[in-house]
Formats: sequence, structure tokens, C-alpha cells
Amino acid sequence: MPKTIYVFGSLNMDLVCRTPRLPQPGETILGTHFDTLPGGKGANQAVAAARLGAATALVGRVGDDAFGRQLIEGLRADGVAVDGIAVDAIAPTGVAAIAVDAAGCNTIVVVPGANGQVGPEDVDRLTGQLQPGDLLLLQFEVPLEAVILAAQRAKAQGVTVIVDPAPARSDLPAAFLPTVDIFTPNQIEASQITGLPVTDIATATAAAHQLVQRGVGLALIKLGSEGAVLATRDRTLYQPALPVTAIDTVAAGDAFNGGLAVALAEGMGLEPAARFATAVAAAAVMVPGAQGSMPELSRVDTLLQSL
Ligand code: RIB
Repeated sequence: MPKTIYVFGSLNMDLVCRTPRLPQPGETILGTHFDTLPGGKGANQAVAAARLGAATALVGRVGDDAFGRQLIEGLRADGVAVDGIAVDAIAPTGVAAIAVDAAGCNTIVVVPGANGQVGPEDVDRLTGQLQPGDLLLLQFEVPLEAVILAAQRAKAQGVTVIVDPAPARSDLPAAFLPTVDIFTPNQIEASQITGLPVTDIATATAAAHQLVQRGVGLALIKLGSEGAVLATRDRTLYQPALPVTAIDTVAAGDAFNGGLAVALAEGMGLEPAARFATAVAAAAVMVPGAQGSMPELSRVDTLLQSL
């Protein structure tokens, strides 16, 4: 029976300004382009998985407005099951104000809107659909209590729980990490969560070991263009990034997590799954936008063969 990848998380409309460089606090600069593009870490991860060919469903919340309708339509067109997305009668659809500089680096401010209203009712809608063997992707753009409840219940139902702790939180309860099979912070998130400096492969490995000690099954620290470090109780691995030229790194981490889930759902081992996820992220940074940059499987295969 094919496994389904469930995503429980945010949907945002991304308001993207392209600028030669990112502004300093208090500074006004002139940008060059503006786009309104579908985003949100949850929705991005769902689109990443669906474009790679996996059966994918998203559970979350939008407002009763044009952005919400546009986001749902886009997901449906990408083959993501959207019947788990509720329309909130009061809160507006979430938005993210994003600046992207000439080197593809970004800053993001998210105003959660309806994502902030996600709660136990949404968790019930999710867990009512889960089957043992399915995979669940979680992030921190919806309230932490709901994420914790979803992880706890999914784990008890025999589902693989993959958590992308973005944006970072330093207040995770001790009981949460043991419900997480795979925990995938980036450098900044790993440092905030562990309290350790994470600046290179050696320090990322130390942080990954701490996370495993605290109960996660696999700690995978994403280091952007430096690749990723993976640690379990008995293995430590380093996966280099693919040498591509990034033009927009928005949602690279989401592409990675979607790719990782697809690889694991298809039964790949840890090492090939990490390499595949790295290739999905590399393909995504070569194209502007969040959901718009998520590659089809053929683009990932071509990239892997060309290196
Ligand atoms: O990870 C990238 C995403 O972060 C953007 O699409 C934006 O919506 C924010 O959620």
C-alpha cells in the first residue's frame, strides 16, 4: 500500500521584494521587482512532495479571502489533497513579507493570520486520516501546542514524524523531542534549540548528538551550501551540498524536507535519502519563488546525473 505524506502546517501568501542587497535596520532602499507568490512552510513542503510524485495531503487553515482561495487552488493544481484545509471565518490568510537580495539570500517576516488559529480541531482532522506507515511533516509556523499534539498522536499511530523546527523556538518541552523521528533544524535553529554554537560541520555534529541524547531518532542539521550533518544513536554522516549557483534560497529547507519524506516513503536508506533531499533543495534554489521553485522528479534526476 503506497504511503501518504501528510503535512500539518502553514499556508502563506508571500509578498516578495527583490533588492540588490538587504536593508539595515532603519534603512530604506529601492527594490527592483515585486511578486505575490504562494508560500508557507507547510504548503511548500506539501508541493515539494507532490511534484516528486508522492500522494500528499495538507491540513491547515486559511482565511475566507482571495489569498486563501488562490493558495488552495494552487495546491489542488499541484495534486495536493486539500480537503483537510479549513477556512477560518475570522482570521485572514497568513502572509510573509520577504526580501531577496542579488545573491539569493533572504529575510522573512511572517504574519500568521489563520495559521495562528490552528488547534486541536485541526489535529483531529489530521489524525482521523493517518494510517500506520504514513509520514507526517511538521513545522513551527502554526501554534506549538497543536504541533506537539499532532506529533504525539501520529507517533502513537505508527506514523513517521519529521519536524522542521522553523521558525526556531527555544522553549520546547522535554517530552516533545522523543515523539520526533527526524528533526531537521538549519544552523540558526539548531543553535537556538541546543544553546550550542553551530558554525561548521564539527559544531553541527555536536549539536546533532545533543538532540539525539534528548530523544530524537535522527537529528539532521541543514547547513545550506555546506550540506547537512546527520546523527542517530549509532551513526554520524555528512552529506555535502550539490555545487549549484543559487539565485533564490527561499524555501530551500522546505524542498529538502519534502524530498527527504518522498525518499523515505519510497524505502531509500538514510544516505541515498539525504543525497536525494540535497538534490531537491539544490534544484529549488536555481529557480525563484517558494512553491514555484519546487522541482519535478525529472529535474532532480537530471541534476543528479549532471554532477
Ligand atoms: O520557508 C519559506 C517560507 O517561509 C516562505 O514561503 C514564507 O511563507 C515563510 O513561511
